[in-house]
Amino acid sequence: MERQKPVTTSRMRKMKKDGIPISMITAYDYPSARLAEEAGIDVILVGDSLGNVVLGYESTLPVTLDDMIYHTRAVTRAVSAAFVVTDMPFMTYHGGTDTALANAGRIMREGMGKAVKMEGGKEIADTVAAIVRAGVPVMGHIGFTPQSLHQIGGYKVQGKNSAQAEKMLEDAKALEQAGAFAIVLELVTEELAARITGELDIPTIGIGAGAGCDGQVLVFHDLLQYGSEGPAKKFVKTYANLGQQIREGIAQYVKDVKNRCFPGDEHSFHMDHDVVEYLYGGTKRS
Ligand code: KIV
Repeated sequence: MERQKPVTTSRMRKMKKDGIPISMITAYDYPSARLAEEAGIDVILVGDSLGNVVLGYESTLPVTLDDMIYHTRAVTRAVSAAFVVTDMPFMTYHGGTDTALANAGRIMREGMGKAVKMEGGKEIADTVAAIVRAGVPVMGHIGFTPQSLHQIGGYKVQGKNSAQAEKMLEDAKALEQAGAFAIVLELVTEELAARITGELDIPTIGIGAGAGCDGQVLVFHDLLQYGSEGPAKKFVKTYANLGQQIREGIAQYVKDVKNRCFPGDEHSFHMDHDVVEYLYGGTKRS
């Protein structure tokens, strides 16, 4: 697909103003980022969902800053137009502003990232402001925040009652005030997500937050059913079944090897006939 100009934070803000939806997907390595870029995605998130879908952990909590930097480098090598955002992992922005600044700096310098994403509302607004002041664009993330999984007590939809809704609206405004360029709303009721979206000048990107957000994000492995074929998540639409295709392909390969159907002559290399003569005296060993 023909790419337009690189996506920037100001372009995303203009997209919101012009009513143009923002498309975002996660990617964690060179080939997946390259495919997303070629498909015309606006934003690639090197999400700490890496822990679940790539590294096989049960949550995002064990993911380290080094993991995020390593995967961000692979993604940024593949991308020229999409805007790359990297999650700051669990507990890398709660130990004081200096630590948060140093960690965001490592993502930008070593990972060659373009922006960071941080989970939380009002309580992290000062840290967000400090990172933005240092020149690093910050995407906020409220609603269900996977790094607080154990505090929340499970994968629960947020914003169902008026107290939760009030708090989330205040959190969104605090993040905008702190300089965040966009906010992810995860597992938020559609009504509240639409209200937050209407109250902010910066774009909201929803995941399980209904159709009223300025953009949508899904996890690569969920929307393509690539090694993520557990019980269907209500908010995920699947667009391909890569897991099935890959499994079938590998099973066929195993069969071909066992039956000596692979490699065929078309996959083999040959030497000139006179060299065969010289080596084997005309009788090629089988
Ligand atoms: O890590 C991630 O993939 C995310 C998305 C769910 C938004 O934070």
